[in-house]
Amino acid sequence: MAVPFIDLQRFEPGFVERWLNLCREITAGTQFVGGPRVAAFEERLTAELEVGGAVGCANGTDALQLALRAAGVGEGDRVLIPDATFWATFEAVVNCGARPVTVDVDPGDWQMDFELFRQAVERFRPRAAILVHLYGWGSARLDDFRTFCRRRHLPLIEDGAQAFGCRWRGESIYRGAELATISFYPAKVLGSCGDAGAVVGRDAAVLERVRRLGNHGRTLHYEHGLVGWNSRMAGLDAAYLSLSLDYLGPRLAARRRFAARYRQRLAELGVATAAPPPGYEENGYVNVTLIPPEERPAWRRVLDGHGVGYGTIYPGSMSEQPAAEGFLAGRLGGDQARRLARSVLNLPLFAGMRDDEFEAVMAAVEEAAGRGRRRPPGDGAFS
Ligand SMILES: Cc1ncc(COP(=O)(O)O)c(C=O)c1O
Repeated sequence: MAVPFIDLQRFEPGFVERWLNLCREITAGTQFVGGPRVAAFEERLTAELEVGGAVGCANGTDALQLALRAAGVGEGDRVLIPDATFWATFEAVVNCGARPVTVDVDPGDWQMDFELFRQAVERFRPRAAILVHLYGWGSARLDDFRTFCRRRHLPLIEDGAQAFGCRWRGESIYRGAELATISFYPAKVLGSCGDAGAVVGRDAAVLERVRRLGNHGRTLHYEHGLVGWNSRMAGLDAAYLSLSLDYLGPRLAARRRFAARYRQRLAELGVATAAPPPGYEENGYVNVTLIPPEERPAWRRVLDGHGVGYGTIYPGSMSEQPAAEGFLAGRLGGDQARRLARSVLNLPLFAGMRDDEFEAVMAAVEEAAGRGRRRPPGDGAFS
């Protein structure tokens, strides 16, 4: 049985009808940019994420740029980022006129390494830092990051593009953040019907600055107190996201169930997976299987042969990207991020996945793992 890596068409009964009715209403009211739908979604987001406030915007990359600009980052500044993330984190820093410094990740949780981060702050004197919550959980040292940055008056922006629904010590992961960003790209845990994003945080004045920056720096309709750009959320996106929030509970439960089942079944086969550290309830965004790099091509061949989709999120670290060199202001370590990039293989995981699809994936995985075991273990073997 062929299984896609992700399938966004598995709508719950009644979802499409409700959505089409909303489209009709919004079209009749021409509430296309901003407006009451966006305001209502921002209110729901604020409650759902247990934060002080939320500002919708055009996408998760803009959300990072808005947060960086609102935190005062500009020309010539240095910003610390983890070496394992999506390229948008790097781009956002550069697009603000600043230069990224990459910090290696901790192989315990695959998030930015706190001890290296502390060293990087001393060495590079950054203007701000971005902590990415990668794979649907966050750092085991999240509280240390937050406390350290607060004491140093170092703005810490949490890139929560992949973290919707993730809980840390019983609370939304966004709750303790000064400023955090979200992506609602359709493949995310809460995905929209197009590109969309949000900035959330606790300080109303900073969020107001975010809102202004994303609306041409407006202070009045034709008075501009800041130079920003257009990053407003569309009414259709806000309506689709509000509707999707009604379905979030069961979707999250399904994702978490498959994430846990993969971890258990892969462990039984002696195959390593990345896992959230204690204190986290993950959102099941992706499966993160770790294959010794020399075995990964054989795994791919077996999965291709079975028609099983997979991802490699992400196949290269930030500091080794072709475009990085001209912009990097420094790097601290990077071996772990590179090892992760060479080893990661993501198996199908999405909210509407069926049990028979999961078993079909596992049949292919058992074959791939059997083949892997017949070869002598290589240098890159995961313990
Ligand atoms: C960690 C991370 N940051 C930022 C982004 C950018 O979000 P968007 O695609 O909505 O611009 C993504 C999207 O995949 C992401 O995974």
